[in-house]
Amino acid sequence: MNFIKVRTYAEMSKIAADMVEAQIKSKPDSVLGLATGSSPVGMYELLIEKYRNGLLDFSKVRTVNLDEYVGLSGDNDQSYRYFMNDKLFNHINIDKNNTFVPNGLAKDIEKECEDYDKVINELGIDFQVLGVGRNGHIGFNEPSSVFSKGTHLELLKEDTIKANSRFFERIEDVPTKALTMGIESIMSAKKIILVSSGEAKRPIIEKLLDCEVTPLIPASILKNHPDVTIIFSEN
Ligand code: F6R
Repeated sequence: MNFIKVRTYAEMSKIAADMVEAQIKSKPDSVLGLATGSSPVGMYELLIEKYRNGLLDFSKVRTVNLDEYVGLSGDNDQSYRYFMNDKLFNHINIDKNNTFVPNGLAKDIEKECEDYDKVINELGIDFQVLGVGRNGHIGFNEPSSVFSKGTHLELLKEDTIKANSRFFERIEDVPTKALTMGIESIMSAKKIILVSSGEAKRPIIEKLLDCEVTPLIPASILKNHPDVTIIFSEN
């Protein structure tokens, strides 16, 4: 694992955005695996700026997102589909038909997971962007006794619900279930970056650098991947 430590969120975002830019320039039809949450927002802003300045063309880019809350429609402003449209897709020249997010309203969850895996397998992820939860989750793969394989339903841990409640009016409003890409799919990406910032994330980042690979710290699996860069900012 490559580890880059910087002081500010802006520096972290710039390094990450420059890496995405290099990826798209080297392969204009790249498949990007994308994350929501606070960590990649600055990177998305810079990608929009690069697009506006004529530096980046997203017309051939395809994206697959890591996860979606169960029970929220894409119109709900708390859904991850809404987040992606709002923070990135609405502002660049990507074809929304080429952007994939699990359907949180799917009646048949099992089929939705199978279909999502088919999309991931057919596209193949070139470049995966990750954040990390304080408990070490990636996507919504929570600490567990085994590493997950494909897309599946995950019951969110209390710590994750608490952390995500900052985006909701009341903690009771935070969905307790999500569909998430599996660990094996994340690991299938050719290249992975993980962005993370601030004091609250320092302990998990330090643990990650030190620990053995264990499903109790899902992000520890990244140690087995040949091309991972963790970018951590102190602030
Ligand atoms: C989001 C996701 C999560 C977040 C993680 C960190 O799609 O998959 O694993 O990356 O919870 O969230 P932030 O960046 O908000 O601290």
